Amino acid sequence: MGLVDVSRLPQHVAIIMDGNGRWAQARGQPRTFGHARGADAVRDVMRAARRLGIPALTLYAFSEQNWDRPQDEVDALVDLLCEHLVSERDELTDNEIRLSAIGRLHKLPTRARERLQKLMADTAQYDGMTLTLALSYGGREEMVDAMRTLAERVASGTLEPTAIDSATLENELASMNVGPVDLLIRTGGEQRMSNFLPWGAAYAELHFTDELWPDFGANSLYDALSAYQNRERRFGLVPDDCEAAKAPLARGSLERAL
Ligand code: FPP
Repeated sequence: MGLVDVSRLPQHVAIIMDGNGRWAQARGQPRTFGHARGADAVRDVMRAARRLGIPALTLYAFSEQNWDRPQDEVDALVDLLCEHLVSERDELTDNEIRLSAIGRLHKLPTRARERLQKLMADTAQYDGMTLTLALSYGGREEMVDAMRTLAERVASGTLEPTAIDSATLENELASMNVGPVDLLIRTGGEQRMSNFLPWGAAYAELHFTDELWPDFGANSLYDALSAYQNRERRFGLVPDDCEAAKAPLARGSLERAL
């Protein structure tokens, strides 16, 4: 197990939780069984991140493209979400975790949206950690929605095209509410981003593991954090300037690094 220096933790960890289906199929079970075990892994990892003091954890729970999976799998994922939005209430409140969500949430069935909104409202006051669920989320879709908003402001005369910079766009991206991603983890052996947080993860360190998501637990998170702490983050600069560059970059001044 990797050693973690708690004084140098990433401020924002994002996870692509892949491999539930394969995990279940390897055990002769339906894919939905893997999703249920995947939800248990969510609890373990959330607890471990909170205990360590990571301020923001964002999980890719349902992509915009996942709507095209077989209807029974989509239904099972929505049911699982609904269940967990009730069963995990004490876990969130006891640990002072604020729940947030990004994505085209209006596409979720009403029962899921209502439970989500209730738990977000009931945990809004906490600042122990922000847990963001990406639901019906796609990074390109998020950027398209943001650009449409900016285009409407330009059309109405309240925004000058020449005034648009990185910060203008960033302000329209809900995924940037908790800042840029420092560490992006993907389980399940694939090495791709799958439309997850393209803006926020632009300078993220990437950690890919063959472990399937239901097998990923606290120890796997420590390994990923330990690997992260052995990286040198440069943000497009030369080594000596890296430390000086981190603070402004963390506040979103991406231009400095280009
Ligand atoms: C990808 O594995 C995983 C998903 C599409 C769903 C992720 C959902 C969970 C971990 C559980 C629900 C979460 C909450 C917050 C209650 P896959 O099915 O694509 O796996 P495969 O690549 O093996 O087919």
